[in-house]
Amino acid sequence: MDKIQIKDIKVNEILDSREEKTIEIILVNKNGKEAKSQIPKGKSTGSKEAVSLGYEKAKENSKKILKELSEKDFGSISEIDNFLIELDGTENKSNLGGDLTLGISISFARLLAQEKQKELWEVLKGEFFKNEAGSTPPHIFANMINGGEHAENNLAFQEYIVVAKTENGVKNATENLINFYNNLKETLKEKTGLSEIPLGDEAGFCVSLKNSEEPFFVLEKLIKENFSESDFKLATDIAGNSFYKDGKYTIDKKEYDSPSLVKYYKSLFEKVDLLFSIEDPFYENDTEAFLSLKNSLSCEKIIVGDDLTTTNKKEIEKNKEKISGVIIKANQIGTLTETMEAIKTAHKNNIKTIISHRSGETDDCFLVHIAKASNAYGVKIGPPARERLLKYEELEKIYT
Ligand code: PGA
Ligand code: ZN
Repeated sequence: MDKIQIKDIKVNEILDSREEKTIEIILVNKNGKEAKSQIPKGKSTGSKEAVSLGYEKAKENSKKILKELSEKDFGSISEIDNFLIELDGTENKSNLGGDLTLGISISFARLLAQEKQKELWEVLKGEFFKNEAGSTPPHIFANMINGGEHAENNLAFQEYIVVAKTENGVKNATENLINFYNNLKETLKEKTGLSEIPLGDEAGFCVSLKNSEEPFFVLEKLIKENFSESDFKLATDIAGNSFYKDGKYTIDKKEYDSPSLVKYYKSLFEKVDLLFSIEDPFYENDTEAFLSLKNSLSCEKIIVGDDLTTTNKKEIEKNKEKISGVIIKANQIGTLTETMEAIKTAHKNNIKTIISHRSGETDDCFLVHIAKASNAYGVKIGPPARERLLKYEELEKIYT
């Protein structure tokens, strides 16, 4: 196959699901073929994430990159990514912008897929996961109740997640989740006396409840009374960075130091028996607390790193004893190649991977293709509502 030569990089400014500005990148090859990508944006971020520089900078930097590209051609995703990584020359893509580099990386992968008449996931699998066994549909992590920085309510924890198993197919899991979501809406209306329940950033419900534990009991009760425990489990993204200050965590107006927070979580797991996975339970540099929690829970419980690990293979390697799951968000690192390296590092260390959206999403469903290519344990894509539905539709499409 001929290598791909880039003739133009077009940058457009678009709005994400929060109506904040982000970018869209269109690459044009020498035959005039085009491929597009759109870049999501987080709000609850880890300090080591690649930086997004936004539209103006992306436009300016795309001209510089185009000049450097002039007569070069690339036969694989890693070739173009390594070129971008070298040209940027920083740990966090602060020269070129991780939003721009990721956009080029994904659009290039799509040009390659067009050329080979393949799906994006097939191209990713072919280059990065050739020898891995076929893929089973991932567990679906659906954030049903939003708190923390994603919602205007009294809940300290960011995400109260229902996890759907997919043994009976993606369609069945999606239907179960839609059913659950509608049921939950009615339950919350009854509980709060509100006639409409507002939604948080990720389309989960945004209500104030008795305290930050209450949503777990609401979700568990609904599963046990109206659904089957063989279809659903519970997970949470605590987003510990968001209520940590000067060595203390504040939950429901009460302060906790790290050891007392470990105890709090331990008792939470005892009280909520369907809860099996907890993401970022502590501030990203409170790594001893991660270890202490992991050691105090049974090994079926999953401790997940997100702000702790930022899709960075070095951080995953450094923290491998402290976690048993890891969130993968391509825009935390800024190229597909480095995203795949992070996934491989997790696989090597027996750490489950959960490929995730951001709170500010676009129509682009590349994350679902990363999940299929790498045979991920889970996808975190919000509830099947509003703009989040697109990811469900793509899942169904590529897993049937
Ligand atoms: P973000 O949150 O996309 O706002 O960073 C998602 C998460 O913390 O998992
Ligand atoms: Zn998170």
